[in-house]
Amino acid sequence: MKNLSIFLFACLFATFALVSCGEKEDVTPTPTVSLYERLGGIAAISAVVDQFLANVVGDNVINARFAPTVADPFRTQLLRNNLIDQICAGAGGPCQYKGKTMLEAHTGMQITEAEFNALVGDLVAALNQFNVPQKEKDELLAILGPMKSDIVGQ
Ligand code: HEM
Repeated sequence: MKNLSIFLFACLFATFALVSCGEKEDVTPTPTVSLYERLGGIAAISAVVDQFLANVVGDNVINARFAPTVADPFRTQLLRNNLIDQICAGAGGPCQYKGKTMLEAHTGMQITEAEFNALVGDLVAALNQFNVPQKEKDELLAILGPMKSDIVGQ
Protein backbone atom coordinates (compact mmCIF):
# COMPACT_ATOMS: atom_id res chain seq x y z
CA MET A 1 0.00 0.00 0.00
CA LYS A 2 2.81 2.37 0.92
CA ASN A 3 4.58 1.51 -2.37
CA LEU A 4 1.38 2.21 -4.31
CA SER A 5 1.06 5.62 -2.63
CA ILE A 6 4.66 6.48 -3.49
CA PHE A 7 4.06 5.32 -7.08
CA LEU A 8 0.87 7.40 -7.41
CA PHE A 9 2.59 10.45 -5.92
CA ALA A 10 5.49 10.00 -8.35
CA CYS A 11 3.04 9.78 -11.28
CA LEU A 12 1.24 12.92 -10.12
CA PHE A 13 4.53 14.78 -9.78
CA ALA A 14 5.71 13.63 -13.23
CA THR A 15 2.42 14.74 -14.80
CA PHE A 16 2.63 18.13 -13.09
CA ALA A 17 6.22 18.57 -14.22
CA LEU A 18 5.32 17.71 -17.82
CA VAL A 19 2.36 20.10 -17.86
CA SER A 20 4.50 22.85 -16.35
CA CYS A 21 7.16 22.31 -18.99
CA GLY A 22 4.49 22.47 -21.69
CA GLU A 23 3.20 25.76 -20.31
CA LYS A 24 6.68 27.24 -20.31
CA GLU A 25 7.11 26.36 -23.99
CA ASP A 26 3.83 28.10 -24.84
CA VAL A 27 5.03 31.46 -23.51
CA THR A 28 8.37 31.44 -25.37
CA PRO A 29 8.37 34.78 -27.29
CA THR A 30 8.41 34.56 -31.09
CA PRO A 31 11.34 36.48 -32.65
CA THR A 32 10.30 39.90 -33.98
CA VAL A 33 11.21 40.97 -37.51
CA SER A 34 12.27 44.63 -37.62
CA LEU A 35 10.31 47.18 -39.64
CA TYR A 36 13.51 47.64 -41.69
CA GLU A 37 13.42 44.00 -42.77
CA ARG A 38 9.65 44.01 -43.37
CA LEU A 39 9.99 47.08 -45.61
CA GLY A 40 12.50 45.13 -47.71
CA GLY A 41 15.83 46.53 -46.49
CA ILE A 42 17.96 49.30 -47.92
CA ALA A 43 17.07 48.68 -51.60
CA ALA A 44 13.33 48.99 -50.98
CA ILE A 45 13.76 52.04 -48.70
CA SER A 46 15.95 53.75 -51.34
CA ALA A 47 13.33 53.09 -54.03
CA VAL A 48 10.57 54.52 -51.81
CA VAL A 49 12.67 57.63 -51.04
CA ASP A 50 13.34 58.21 -54.77
CA GLN A 51 9.62 57.98 -55.50
CA PHE A 52 8.86 60.20 -52.49
CA LEU A 53 11.25 62.91 -53.77
CA ALA A 54 9.71 62.66 -57.25
CA ASN A 55 6.25 63.11 -55.67
CA VAL A 56 7.49 66.14 -53.68
CA VAL A 57 8.91 67.74 -56.85
CA GLY A 58 5.51 67.28 -58.52
CA ASP A 59 3.57 68.63 -55.53
CA ASN A 60 2.60 72.27 -56.09
CA VAL A 61 1.81 72.78 -52.38
CA ILE A 62 5.46 72.34 -51.34
CA ASN A 63 7.77 72.02 -54.35
CA ALA A 64 8.84 75.69 -54.23
CA ARG A 65 10.46 74.90 -50.85
CA PHE A 66 12.74 72.41 -52.57
CA ALA A 67 13.60 74.47 -55.69
CA PRO A 68 17.15 75.35 -54.48
CA THR A 69 17.74 71.69 -53.52
CA VAL A 70 16.57 70.36 -56.89
CA ALA A 71 18.74 72.93 -58.70
CA ASP A 72 21.87 71.55 -57.00
CA PRO A 73 22.67 67.84 -57.66
CA PHE A 74 24.97 67.64 -54.62
CA ARG A 75 22.25 69.00 -52.31
CA THR A 76 19.67 66.64 -53.84
CA GLN A 77 22.02 63.69 -53.29
CA LEU A 78 22.68 64.74 -49.69
CA LEU A 79 18.96 65.09 -48.91
CA ARG A 80 18.28 61.68 -50.52
CA ASN A 81 21.03 59.98 -48.49
CA ASN A 82 19.91 61.66 -45.26
CA LEU A 83 16.29 60.57 -45.81
CA ILE A 84 17.35 56.97 -46.56
CA ASP A 85 19.57 56.85 -43.45
CA GLN A 86 16.86 58.46 -41.31
CA ILE A 87 14.16 55.96 -42.35
CA CYS A 88 16.56 53.00 -42.24
CA ALA A 89 17.80 53.87 -38.72
CA GLY A 90 14.31 54.71 -37.45
CA ALA A 91 13.02 51.36 -38.72
CA GLY A 92 15.73 49.46 -36.84
CA GLY A 93 18.11 48.97 -39.78
CA PRO A 94 21.94 49.07 -39.81
CA CYS A 95 22.23 52.77 -40.81
CA GLN A 96 23.27 55.86 -38.93
CA TYR A 97 21.57 59.20 -39.56
CA LYS A 98 24.35 61.79 -39.87
CA GLY A 99 22.27 64.84 -40.85
CA LYS A 100 21.04 67.78 -38.82
CA THR A 101 18.38 67.37 -36.13
CA MET A 102 14.86 68.06 -37.44
CA LEU A 103 14.81 71.29 -35.44
CA GLU A 104 18.15 72.45 -36.90
CA ALA A 105 17.15 71.49 -40.46
CA HIS A 106 13.79 73.28 -40.44
CA THR A 107 14.29 76.29 -38.17
CA GLY A 108 13.62 79.58 -39.99
CA MET A 109 11.40 77.92 -42.61
CA GLN A 110 8.06 78.59 -40.85
CA ILE A 111 6.62 75.39 -42.34
CA THR A 112 2.83 75.19 -41.98
CA GLU A 113 0.73 72.21 -40.92
CA ALA A 114 -0.76 72.07 -44.46
CA GLU A 115 2.76 71.78 -45.90
CA PHE A 116 3.65 69.08 -43.38
CA ASN A 117 0.49 67.13 -44.32
CA ALA A 118 1.28 67.55 -48.03
CA LEU A 119 4.77 66.07 -47.54
CA VAL A 120 3.40 63.16 -45.49
CA GLY A 121 0.83 62.62 -48.28
CA ASP A 122 3.67 62.43 -50.82
CA LEU A 123 5.38 59.80 -48.66
CA VAL A 124 2.17 57.77 -48.26
CA ALA A 125 1.67 57.93 -52.04
CA ALA A 126 5.21 56.57 -52.55
CA LEU A 127 4.57 53.75 -50.04
CA ASN A 128 1.32 52.94 -51.87
CA GLN A 129 3.12 52.95 -55.22
CA PHE A 130 5.35 50.18 -53.80
CA ASN A 131 2.40 48.30 -52.24
CA VAL A 132 3.74 48.65 -48.69
CA PRO A 133 1.13 47.04 -46.39
CA GLN A 134 -0.97 49.19 -44.02
CA LYS A 135 0.76 47.85 -40.87
CA GLU A 136 4.23 48.87 -42.09
CA LYS A 137 2.93 52.25 -43.36
CA ASP A 138 1.38 52.95 -39.95
CA GLU A 139 4.60 51.98 -38.14
CA LEU A 140 6.73 54.23 -40.36
CA LEU A 141 4.35 57.18 -39.95
CA ALA A 142 4.36 56.61 -36.19
CA ILE A 143 8.16 57.06 -36.27
CA LEU A 144 7.99 60.28 -38.32
CA GLY A 145 4.87 61.77 -36.68
CA PRO A 146 6.57 62.85 -33.42
CA MET A 147 9.04 64.94 -35.48
CA LYS A 148 6.20 67.31 -36.45
CA SER A 149 6.66 69.67 -33.48
CA ASP A 150 10.33 70.22 -34.47
CA ILE A 151 9.38 70.91 -38.10
CA VAL A 152 6.10 72.91 -38.15
CA GLY A 153 6.15 76.59 -37.15
CA GLN A 154 9.90 76.77 -36.49
C1 HEM B 1 8.26 64.09 -41.25
C2 HEM B 1 8.53 65.12 -42.04
C3 HEM B 1 9.93 65.52 -42.48
C4 HEM B 1 11.09 64.83 -42.39
C5 HEM B 1 11.33 63.42 -41.84
C6 HEM B 1 12.13 65.67 -42.97
C7 HEM B 1 13.45 65.30 -43.07
C8 HEM B 1 14.44 66.14 -43.53
C9 HEM B 1 15.85 65.81 -43.56
C10 HEM B 1 16.45 64.49 -43.12
C11 HEM B 1 16.51 66.87 -44.07
C12 HEM B 1 18.03 67.00 -44.30
C13 HEM B 1 18.72 67.52 -43.06
C14 HEM B 1 20.20 67.83 -43.34
O1 HEM B 1 20.48 68.49 -44.35
O2 HEM B 1 21.06 67.47 -42.54
C15 HEM B 1 15.52 67.87 -44.38
C16 HEM B 1 15.79 69.10 -44.95
C17 HEM B 1 14.84 69.91 -45.50
N1 HEM B 1 13.49 69.82 -45.33
FE1 HEM B 1 12.53 68.38 -44.27
N2 HEM B 1 11.57 66.83 -43.37
C18 HEM B 1 10.23 66.79 -43.11
C19 HEM B 1 9.30 67.76 -43.39
C20 HEM B 1 9.53 68.84 -44.21
C21 HEM B 1 8.51 69.73 -44.74
C22 HEM B 1 7.02 69.61 -44.44
C23 HEM B 1 9.14 70.64 -45.53
C24 HEM B 1 8.57 71.77 -46.34
C25 HEM B 1 7.44 71.68 -46.94
C26 HEM B 1 10.57 70.34 -45.50
C27 HEM B 1 11.53 71.04 -46.17
C28 HEM B 1 12.89 70.80 -46.07
C29 HEM B 1 13.89 71.57 -46.77
C30 HEM B 1 13.64 72.74 -47.70
C31 HEM B 1 15.13 71.02 -46.41
C32 HEM B 1 16.51 71.48 -46.88
C33 HEM B 1 16.95 70.64 -48.05
C34 HEM B 1 18.37 70.98 -48.46
O3 HEM B 1 19.28 70.85 -47.65
O4 HEM B 1 18.56 71.38 -49.61
N3 HEM B 1 10.76 69.25 -44.68
N4 HEM B 1 14.29 67.42 -44.02
